Amino acid sequence: MNPVKIAVLVSGGGTNLQALIDAQKAGIIKNGEITLVVSSSPTAYALERAKNAGIETAVADKHAYENRSDFEKALIASLEEKGIELIVLAGFMYILSPEFIAHYKERMINVHPSLIPSFCGDGFYGLRVHEAALAYGVKVTGATVHFVNEITDGGKIIMQKAVEIQEGDTPETLQKRVMQEAEWIILPQAVEKVSKDIINGGTI
Ligand code: GAR
Repeated sequence: MNPVKIAVLVSGGGTNLQALIDAQKAGIIKNGEITLVVSSSPTAYALERAKNAGIETAVADKHAYENRSDFEKALIASLEEKGIELIVLAGFMYILSPEFIAHYKERMINVHPSLIPSFCGDGFYGLRVHEAALAYGVKVTGATVHFVNEITDGGKIIMQKAVEIQEGDTPETLQKRVMQEAEWIILPQAVEKVSKDIINGGTI
């Protein structure tokens, strides 16, 4: 059976993309293959990571299109051209339309840096999530990988991992620990699980 063709959509540093690349090299991801990396920004460092790993890249810059519909049509065209079967949102800072999401129903997953349903939804992304967790005073946070549906961070949960908050944490130190202890571990595991389920044609 051929591995599932995966596209990773990114916007920034791409440390989660790197975790996926490393997991593929290590054989943790074996039922899927990262075929394309699409960045919403032409300057994202994630593009360098993809190039260093010999993975094809594309830039989908919404500013280059008149409207959201044209932008998403072009994005779908570049994904379909490569026969993409699974999309991984790894720090992709763009809210996709319900039409796009419906097109990839149960074929698109996202990593979010909190234990959903805490600190998620519109406006909760990147450092803001960790600022909110610290402001609330929770003692445990973590990361979640979930399917993408029309509700921001609202789709079915695939995996979660908890991370303890430490005395003196700042949003930056917490963000780094959540990445190291949770995101970079569960995202590759979830990608492998979903890829395997797609290949087996089983229920997701
Ligand atoms: C990650 O922490 C990811 O969970 C978060 O953005 C960061 C991207 O880092 N995503 C969200 O907040 C989505 N709501 P990376 O580019 O180094 O992978």
